[in-house]
Amino acid sequence: MAQQIGYSKKVMEHFMNPKNVGTMDDADGHGKVGNPVCGDLMEIFIKVKDDKIEDIRFQTFGCGSAIATSSMVSEMAKGMRLDEAMRITRNDVANELDGLPPVKMHCSNLAADALHEAIKDYKRKKGEIVEEEEKPAGHTCEHNHNHCDTC
Ligand code: FES
Repeated sequence: MAQQIGYSKKVMEHFMNPKNVGTMDDADGHGKVGNPVCGDLMEIFIKVKDDKIEDIRFQTFGCGSAIATSSMVSEMAKGMRLDEAMRITRNDVANELDGLPPVKMHCSNLAADALHEAIKDYKRKKGEIVEEEEKPAGHTCEHNHNHCDTC
């Protein structure tokens, strides 16, 4: 397939052959977020063992960039400790994909945010209190929500 203008080879590879697609009936954590910029949706399911993400699946009603970033974030997070996975930012995901066109950067919010929501859901189910400071280190949003177009 011809290289799409503005998309890296890695983005195209993950779009054409996404990893970890699907759902999980027995997930330990489930995150679902919507993108206020475009209205698209993302769900991530995680299985946790020994405080690490043992398995992960995603399902998105989003664009090609959402598919590619979700596939990449699932590969990045698999096997990672929960506290490390909480620090994955949208920029980390975009960098791992060798960049996204600026107009598509908002698409990477879905993947990182849904992952963080899935981890918080797991912690809530375990009875652990999830405080605001558990937001990823690179998150600079001043607003009281996770899906800000300006961050
Ligand atoms: S345009 Fe909605 S996630 Fe990309």
